[in-house]
Amino acid sequence: MIHGKELVEPIVIKLGGSVITFKDNPYTVNEEAIKRLAGIIYENYKAGKRIVLVHGGGSFGHVAVSEIDEKKGILDAVDVAYVQYRMLQLATIVGKAFINAGVPVTIYPGHVLCRKEARCNFDLLYEDLENGLVPMTYGDIVYDDRGYTIISGDDIALWLSSAIGARKIYFVTSEPGVLDEKGNVIKRVSAGEQVVDLGGRGYDVTGGMKRKVDAALEYSSSHDAEIRILDINGLEKVLRGEEAGSVIGGDKAKRRVGRGSRK
Ligand SMILES: Nc1ncnc2c1ncn2[C@@H]1O[C@H](COP(=O)(O)OP(=O)(O)OP(=O)(O)O)[C@@H](O)[C@H]1O
Ligand SMILES: [Mg+2]
Repeated sequence: MIHGKELVEPIVIKLGGSVITFKDNPYTVNEEAIKRLAGIIYENYKAGKRIVLVHGGGSFGHVAVSEIDEKKGILDAVDVAYVQYRMLQLATIVGKAFINAGVPVTIYPGHVLCRKEARCNFDLLYEDLENGLVPMTYGDIVYDDRGYTIISGDDIALWLSSAIGARKIYFVTSEPGVLDEKGNVIKRVSAGEQVVDLGGRGYDVTGGMKRKVDAALEYSSSHDAEIRILDINGLEKVLRGEEAGSVIGGDKAKRRVGRGSRK
C-alpha cells in the first residue's frame, strides 16, 4: 500500500480552458481561477482523494491553432511544434500554481500519452497516481506523416477515465453547467438532448460546449460514471458530496464499468 491510497477510486477533473484562461485574449491566464482551483484540489488531495487532472487549450492552444490556420490554412511541422510549445507553457503555469499550493502535480504532455485515433498509453501516469502524485495532462496536437491531429482535453479526460476506471469525471468550465436558452442550468442532460449553442467567448477549435456534451453522452452510454459539467463553485460542492452542475447521461440502469487496460 502506497500512501494508503490505492483503494480510493480516482477522480478525473478537466480544468477547462474557459476557466483557467481568458479565451478571448491570446495567451492570458486567469491567475485567480487557477489559484482557487489549486486550493480546492489541495484540500481534497490532503483529505486522501486520488485525483488526475486534464486541462484544456484555452487562449493558448486554441489561439495558436486559429492564428496559424487563418494565416496559412494548414499547419506544418514547425507550427505543430509551436502549438505544442504553447500548450506546455500553459501546463507549466498551471503546474507551478498547483505545486505552490502543495499539490504534487506531474506534467504529461498530451502528445506524449496519446496519438490520433485514441491510441494512448497511460501506464506511467497511472504509476504516478498510485504513488500518491497528482498527474496532469492536457489537450494537445500530434503530428505524423499525414499531417496533424488536435486531441481535445475533453476526449483525453474520457479516454483516461475509461483506462484507469475513474467513475467520477468533472468538467470545470466558466459556466455553472449546461445552460438552456434562458440561461438556467439543466440538471441532467439525457441522451439525444440537443444543447443550445449560446456562443462562446473567443477561440475554440474543438467544438466547445456542444461537442463536450456529445462526447460525454456517448461515453456515458457504455460506461458507469458520474459525469458533470460545472464551474469552480460547483466543483468545490460536488467534492464535498453536495449537488451541483449538470449531470451528463447516466440515466439508464445497465452500465459497463470502464476498467481494464490502461493502454
Ligand atoms: N448551452 C451552453 N451552456 C453552457 N455553455 C455554453 C453553452 N453554449 C455555449 N457555451 C459556451 O461554451 C463554453 C465552454 O466550452 P469551451 O470549449 O469554450 O470551454 P472549455 O472546454 O472549458 O475550454 P477548452 O476547450 O479550452 O478546454 C462556455 O464558456 C460558454 O461560453
Ligand atoms: Mg472546450
